[in-house]
Amino acid sequence: MNDKLPPSPPEQEQEGASPSLSVDWRPDPASPLPLHAQIAAHFLAKIRTGAWPSGMRLAPQRELCRRLGVNRSTVVTALGQLTALGLIEGRRGGGTFVTDTSSAETERSGNWNDYVEEGIHYPNLPTIQDINRLEYEPGLIRLGTGEPAPELLPGAAMNQVLAGLSQRVLPPLSYEEPLGSPVLRAAVSRMLERSGILADPASILITSGALQGLQLIALGLLPRGSTILLEKPSYLYSIHAFQSAGVKFSGLPLDGRGLIPERLAAEAVRSKAAMLYSIPSFHNPTGIVMDTERRKELMEVTGRLGLPILEDGAYQELWLDEPPPLPLKALDREGRVLHLGTLSKAASPGLRIGWIAGPEPVVRRLADIKMQSDYGASSLSQWAAASWLTGGYHEEHLHTLRRRLRERRSLMLELLRLHCTGLATWNVPAGGFYIWLSLLHAGPPRKLFTAALHAGLLLNTGDLYDRSDRRHLRLSYAYASPAELERAIPLLAGLIRAGG
Ligand SMILES: Cc1ncc(COP(=O)(O)O)c(C=O)c1O
Repeated sequence: MNDKLPPSPPEQEQEGASPSLSVDWRPDPASPLPLHAQIAAHFLAKIRTGAWPSGMRLAPQRELCRRLGVNRSTVVTALGQLTALGLIEGRRGGGTFVTDTSSAETERSGNWNDYVEEGIHYPNLPTIQDINRLEYEPGLIRLGTGEPAPELLPGAAMNQVLAGLSQRVLPPLSYEEPLGSPVLRAAVSRMLERSGILADPASILITSGALQGLQLIALGLLPRGSTILLEKPSYLYSIHAFQSAGVKFSGLPLDGRGLIPERLAAEAVRSKAAMLYSIPSFHNPTGIVMDTERRKELMEVTGRLGLPILEDGAYQELWLDEPPPLPLKALDREGRVLHLGTLSKAASPGLRIGWIAGPEPVVRRLADIKMQSDYGASSLSQWAAASWLTGGYHEEHLHTLRRRLRERRSLMLELLRLHCTGLATWNVPAGGFYIWLSLLHAGPPRKLFTAALHAGLLLNTGDLYDRSDRRHLRLSYAYASPAELERAIPLLAGLIRAGG
């Protein structure tokens, strides 16, 4: 065991990972036991059971106050009691840690703090870890969340689908084929055909969300040390699937029409790129749609270079004004494009159903890795997804979802016009969820994130999608309710005006 974190991926340097603390517990004000005693007892149990191992860092006091919903003196008293018991200690250089009690015996059995810093997968960026946790704290307005609000998800229709499944003679309790349920693959194939993509079920692999598709491709198709080209900013910078597999990133500039083919060609040659990753429709985070001309040029340039493309179509069906141009996969005659899709962005992020369409040997190779990692996406989810698609529910739901997203988009744009004019500029997205807010004055993203948090707002700052960015926010009109947006945008404007 060495004592270092896995080296940070290039461009991903940030302060250390957030301390862990279970968030599903708060002291009970109605209990006869004082709050500080409840906290001390809870922490003591965590330490005694080994859930918090020797040497683990506790969250800073201010953070503890917020998470536990108590004031500073309560936390200080509780920590004082644990310090007196020798269970925690302050360290020079700052921070409170679970006392290192490692004896020769624990040394032999290993120190978990070393292990958790040892694996080959990079940890999430600290801000992403914070967001992943804070999204479940009540009371915060989620201004950047990349999923539809629960009230925009099709609960009633999905209940019908599930009720239909429960009428089957037997529920789907077995594993499915390596490529996934044939019924679901046939349904996805028909759905892709409506978007112009011809992929028969043998060319489709069902994944646990599009995210797993990215992971399988990173692990299965790209050698360590190879380079992938991508838009900068990009969703891909906010996850570490590729860097953890030893793949390097080379970010390409975007203009209002998407990737710039000449820049791409030059960089592909310079970096000897192995693949291009692109989100051509309703790009995450900028909302940009690559126009038809650019798509053709892109196919032409990459064709000359023999460069494979990974097309992420996560948002393509979420058009609000008019359908986007044909997907790159629909223009592909050589089997050079892998196309990713998902049910997460329209129907249900929780079902965890996505797909990869590509040449048969490629999807079979990826299916083989998938069989070694999870034996397939949940059979229940696959059956629900198949009924959802074959029953025509999806198309009907998209119709309603688009209307409701249009309303929220209009509201967000109007609020930005009223409160952010003179502070920032922004795009008018033609689909998807995002507005890429460009602040007129750059500033430290973490400062704005923290100030917003204290004001009750959860932000996705631009640095999550481009490590050097200091002037953007990814706003989403898909999650916060209209009433929340009306409260949040003036607050946000105030914070921007005050410089975070
Ligand atoms: C561009 C893009 N691709 C893929 C994903 C992963 O989605 P899921 O794994 O939920 O299908 C996301 C989610 O935010 C995304 O924005």
